[in-house]
Amino acid sequence: EKGGYDHFMLKEIFEQPQTIHDSLRGRLDAPKGTLTLGGIREHMDLLKNAKRIIIVACGTSWHAGLVAEYMIEELCRIPVEVEYASEFRYRNPVIGQGDVIIAVSQSGETADTLVAIESAKQKGAIILGVCNVVGSSIARMSDAGAYTHAGPEIGVASTKAFTAQLTVLALIGLKVAMERGSISGQRFQHLLNEMDQVSKKVAIALKLNDHVKEIAEKYKDARDFLYLGRGYNFPVALEGALKLKEISYIHAEGYPAAEMKHGPIALVDENLPVVIVATKDSFYEKVVSNIQEIKARKGKVIAVVTEGDTTIPPMVDDVIVVPAADELVAPIISVIPLQLLAYHIGVSKGYDVDKPRNLAKSVTVE
Ligand code: M6R
Repeated sequence: EKGGYDHFMLKEIFEQPQTIHDSLRGRLDAPKGTLTLGGIREHMDLLKNAKRIIIVACGTSWHAGLVAEYMIEELCRIPVEVEYASEFRYRNPVIGQGDVIIAVSQSGETADTLVAIESAKQKGAIILGVCNVVGSSIARMSDAGAYTHAGPEIGVASTKAFTAQLTVLALIGLKVAMERGSISGQRFQHLLNEMDQVSKKVAIALKLNDHVKEIAEKYKDARDFLYLGRGYNFPVALEGALKLKEISYIHAEGYPAAEMKHGPIALVDENLPVVIVATKDSFYEKVVSNIQEIKARKGKVIAVVTEGDTTIPPMVDDVIVVPAADELVAPIISVIPLQLLAYHIGVSKGYDVDKPRNLAKSVTVE
């Protein structure tokens, strides 16, 4: 049942080229330049005229929502907020007609997310579900939606559901942008081509498995980890830190790299591994400076860089090289080595990575 892998988590990490492909199947036709999302077609007018979009989710799904915020604001020029469902449901938020709520949930059963959309619906918002489990409570409660099609996810630490969420949320952003006319034909086609290439690039990133395992061995006894990224890679840093916490029980924090100097840099010393997602994007030069700041304080830097980068490798302790991609789709690729790093650290510490202590696969109580 684990398909020859030691754990469901590893099996699910390695399934990602296929699950991303499944999320795109029947939707994206890059050569023809078309994108079809049957589940939202009926509500497209409301969606493209939305005054704002509020994304509600928890945990890893919330991280996918953060990436979607950047994508949708850039592509559609609609204001987006991302909320922890557990806060949103209790804080009497301002919601009304014309607001669109996107609920992101692998299980479709997360109690906080379900209750959050229930009350938003009563206030007149339109609910769009991005769920993995077909027929789940959140999917049924939604007015429209798009399934992620990642297949059953057994490992408690979410992996393939995350990349499927990123894939589907990118498609939604692209579709709405096209309908609104907020994206040029050229950029639209370019991003369709990028989406078309992404599962191949994820397969290439998975070849890093042995290398990442060696890095895991080297740092597995660290007490704390810091994960940094900027722009589209900031939520990837949060996700990398969450994966490590969940399955290795090592304290880890994710930050936007520029926030370092506002506090967390005080933690940096020669014992602190700092994972920096530093792929080639519009923030690249800034991230290079952030790496210098960490190295000046003797932190150990593990950098995820784009192939062909010759600037960062000589500056850092360990390098993980991933294929080049447009910054909008880069998180789907750059998260792969972070999933593997958490996995190998958890396994090398002897923990049951599929069933981490204190956690349940879906949190159906508040
Ligand atoms: O099923 P959901 O996507 O609604 O679950 C949300 C979180 O409970 C979930 O992502 C959790 O954080 C995972 N254990 C992360 O690996």
